[in-house]
Parts: sequence; structure tokens; C-alpha cells
Amino acid sequence: MASVTFLLLTLAVLNSAGSSQSFVKIHCKTQNFGQYEQQSRLDCVIHYSKEVEDPEIVVVTWSREGVEELLLKYNQGKLRSLLEYSFAEPSWNNKNVNVSLLIHKTAVKDEGDYTCYVFTDSGFNINQTRLNVTAKYGVPTIQPQPQDIDLSTDGSLTCKSTGYPKGRLSWFDKDNKPRLDQPEVKVLKTENGLFILSSTLKIQGGSAFSQYTCKVFNARGDEEAEKSFTVQNKPSAEGHGQDSNMILIVAPVLVVGSLILLVLLLYKIGSQRDHQVVIHMEEGDDQETEGDVQESLTTGKYNSNI
Ligand SMILES: *[C@@H]1O[C@H](CO)[C@@H](O)[C@H](O)[C@H]1NC(C)=O
Ligand SMILES: *[C@@H]1O[C@H](CO)[C@@H](O)[C@H](O)[C@H]1NC(C)=O
Ligand SMILES: *[C@@H]1O[C@H](CO)[C@@H](O)[C@H](O)[C@H]1NC(C)=O
Repeated sequence: MASVTFLLLTLAVLNSAGSSQSFVKIHCKTQNFGQYEQQSRLDCVIHYSKEVEDPEIVVVTWSREGVEELLLKYNQGKLRSLLEYSFAEPSWNNKNVNVSLLIHKTAVKDEGDYTCYVFTDSGFNINQTRLNVTAKYGVPTIQPQPQDIDLSTDGSLTCKSTGYPKGRLSWFDKDNKPRLDQPEVKVLKTENGLFILSSTLKIQGGSAFSQYTCKVFNARGDEEAEKSFTVQNKPSAEGHGQDSNMILIVAPVLVVGSLILLVLLLYKIGSQRDHQVVIHMEEGDDQETEGDVQESLTTGKYNSNI
């Protein structure tokens, strides 16, 4: 007896639920797109069937898969929401069928499936919608290794760009031809969930190309940005060559020149010694130190003369 009552009750509940659901529908955009750090809107609108007259919304909730707390809850006049969320309609009221959710500053973690539940005086319903987030990849940076890379030495260029979702990097030659030796693209994640793509192109010394372009493509395969780098055609190496040529010419000149100077200097010292001896003779011994120096010089002179 009890089980029959229970069955009847269950049927009644299911029936009433079924009929009330048919009066109220929530039409949600199945796929929404949001830009990183911009506002995103999850579009859902209530549709009432013709029989419903002057309906009023009693409860609206927005929840997200994987998040326990309700993002937004309207319950009989009271609206509560987490800081980052609100109704998209600025002055929403319980007659407004547009129950779209606004995310104020979209983060990568906001990507996912959302559920909107509506309970009205004419029935209730539930529907789901999804948000995908994109962050446009920025102009790549190219970091040479070594810093002063030139065409005569081995080295590498590392290209980096950050965005979401996962895209790819590709290297091109001067004439915009994709390189055959595309290096592996490494992927790192920032704490905000963005992807840092990184690709290191090895450059062999004596390479014929001087300009390299790194392009970044988004997840759909569209080019988003590019950066070119020109490897200098060994200007420093040529500079060194000129320097050594100069040394080759200058060195003998210096040697010969200094020899001449040395001879002149020796000659001059010799004649000065004669002078000083003369001065010493004339001035006498005014100062002891001077006398000492001059004495030794005088001795020197005698020695050299011997
Ligand atoms: C959910 O939304 C989709 C898209 O608007 C719609 O086709 C579907 O009927 C809705 N489901 C319910 C139960 O309202
Ligand atoms: C819902 O409201 C938002 C904000 O006013 C608006 O941008 C959007 O177009 C509305 N959606 C529909 C389906 O009317
Ligand atoms: C949305 O994101 C999911 C997970 O990243 C992905 O599998 C799906 O293809 C995306 N949808 C669109 C339309 O880009």
C-alpha cells in the first residue's frame, strides 16, 4: 500500500515537473567566447510558452562545473553573486527574461561549462552553456645567443610568444619561405594559465641567410604576429682583420721609430751629462742632494768615457 502511494506521488511529481518544464525553457548559446582580461557574456534567455500569463521569476542560479559555490543566486528579490560575476542586464528584475551572466574580467580559469537554473511561478528549467577563452598572442621576442651573434659563428635564436589556447611558432627565411628544419616548440604555462611558446633555431656559422622571421599562429592556425631578426654579416670579424693589418704596418714603423728615438735619447743624455758637469762646475755645491746626483752623473760620465 505504502509503495503504491509512493509510486503515485513520484509519478505526480514527475508529471508536474514535466508539464511545468514545458512552459518554461532557457535558450542558451551553446558556445560563448571570451577575451582574456575582457568582459565575457554567457547568453541565456527564458522562453515562456503561450499559455503563460505575466510570469514572474522566483529563483535564478548560475553555477560552474568544478566550482562548488554558486556564482550568482537570485532568490525572491535577493541577489547575491561572487565579485567577478553579475547579470549582464544592468538593472535586471524578475520580469526580465535575459538572465545572461557577465564575467567582469575573464581569466583562463573561467573556461568551462556553466549551468543556469530558473524557477518561475509557471515552472522551472535548467540549461548549460560553455565559455572558451582566448588570449591573443603578442608580437614574439627573439633572443640571440650569443648576444652579438654574427654569420661567421655558431649560435641560436630563441623566439617566444604568450597567449591562449595553445598555438604554434614557425620560422621563415628572408624570402618568407618556411624553414625545413622547424625546431620543436616548447610550451610553458604562466601562473595565469597562459601558454608561453618557445622555439630555438640553431644557426650554423657561415650560413647564407641573414634574416630570420618567427611567426606565431593561434589555435585555429591563423597568423597573429611576427618578428624578424637580422644576423649581422660578421662586421666585427672584418674589423679585427683591419686591425691586424694595421699592426703589421705599424709594428715595423714603431720598432724602427723607437730605435731612432733610443739613439737620439742616448745621444742627448750623453750631451746633457756634459752640460751638467759644466753646471756643477759653475754653480758649485749649493745643495748637497743636487751635488750627490751630479757627482754620480759625473762618475757615470767618466765611466762611459773610459
Ligand atoms: C538549451 O539551450 C539550447 C540552445 O538554445 C536549446 O536548443 C535547448 O532546447 C535548451 N534546453 C532546454 C532544456 O531548455
Ligand atoms: C542580454 O543582455 C545583454 C546586456 O544588456 C545584451 O548585450 C544581450 O544582447 C542580451 N541578450 C539577448 C538575447 O537579448
Ligand atoms: C573550447 O575549448 C575546449 C577545451 O580547450 C576545446 O576542446 C574546444 O575545441 C574549444 N571549442 C572551440 C569552439 O574552440
